[in-house]
Amino acid sequence: MIRHTLSFRFADEVDAATRERTLDALRGFPAHYPDMQNFSLGENISTRDRTFTHTMAIDFASEAELVAYLESDSHESFVREQWRPVIGSQAITSFEYTPRPQADAGRSSAVSTRPHGPFGMEFARIEVPDLQEAIDFLQYHVGLQLEQHTDEYAYLRADIEHHSIELISAPHRTDGVTTAVGYSVESEDVLEQLQKNVVDAGYEVLALQERQQQFCDSGFAVKDPNGLIVELFTEFQEYAEAPHVEIRPLDLVHPFLVTPKYTETVDFYRDVLKFVPSDHIVGSTTFLRAEDRYHHSLAVSLNRGSDEFFVAHLCFAMKSLDHVMRMRARALYKGAPIASDIVNHSASTSIAFYMHDTRFGPRFELCDRHRVFTPEEHETHRARKMTADPRNIDVWRPAADDWGRF
Ligand SMILES: [Fe+2]
Repeated sequence: MIRHTLSFRFADEVDAATRERTLDALRGFPAHYPDMQNFSLGENISTRDRTFTHTMAIDFASEAELVAYLESDSHESFVREQWRPVIGSQAITSFEYTPRPQADAGRSSAVSTRPHGPFGMEFARIEVPDLQEAIDFLQYHVGLQLEQHTDEYAYLRADIEHHSIELISAPHRTDGVTTAVGYSVESEDVLEQLQKNVVDAGYEVLALQERQQQFCDSGFAVKDPNGLIVELFTEFQEYAEAPHVEIRPLDLVHPFLVTPKYTETVDFYRDVLKFVPSDHIVGSTTFLRAEDRYHHSLAVSLNRGSDEFFVAHLCFAMKSLDHVMRMRARALYKGAPIASDIVNHSASTSIAFYMHDTRFGPRFELCDRHRVFTPEEHETHRARKMTADPRNIDVWRPAADDWGRF
């Protein structure tokens, strides 16, 4: 948007009637120049600087529209015949700016009228064949801190939130399996609305897992179209201090779901749970965000190869690229399998690597940062439709056919 301002003072000898006639002519401008937006004209009330008596401000969508207005015959004849003879001094500025959509409402932050979704991801629940081995892996290779531990389950946390991984002992399994994901919700009102959406869409409202009920005010669970349990709750409990672990994640950001029921799954999270699409890799992946404004707090991807559903990875954000590389060095040192090495993500602008030991469940993605939308972007961002090309996933891919190594 281009804002054009004109500050001016009438010449001293100009009488009141002429002044009023000239101001009236300016007030008629929006009717003559339809490209003009947000016309305003007022008397200078500043007590600091009385150089000019009036300012007019107008907006144009582009510089070309501004120039077309300035160079129009009607404008030039107005300036020549009516303006210059009566004006003592003037100052003109034109500048480009990005409008804040909420500025009209007189508020400093974005105001949203859309129904809200969950706030953000808090935890994943993973059933593992060997509890102790999984704890050791998550402590050393992901940087989590163990908080509670029985023979049946363990809680590990990344930051102040009560836990980011809940492990469940499942000796009958050979591979770890993610069975539930937990999301906090910002208020009881939003929680109630989400529960109503779930009922209206014909899904069954389930109770939170019994232990989880102690760690929040209220909540419910629902199975997504793949049977993955999604737990939604308010006031997830937290610790006063973050773990005293220097190299650890700061946040659990998202799960990445791979499903044969791609459309149904995207519809469920978007239409029922009110996640907002941030971007699409056409025909393959949708990135969805929650109210914490991370580019994605959930990703859903099509499984073309089989009918299997699985949580492919969980993403943890570290403090820095240095910390990511230190964790990568640990993985190399211990021979922990790196499933996908350094990737520079196009959508979320993060650099990450992925470890995958199937005994511990999904891949663990450790990234250096994750794009966070501004409040304005969160309300106005238009989801991009990106071509299914490896460079739209990793900007460090050199060519369109470089699909390996993901
Ligand atoms: Fe990810």
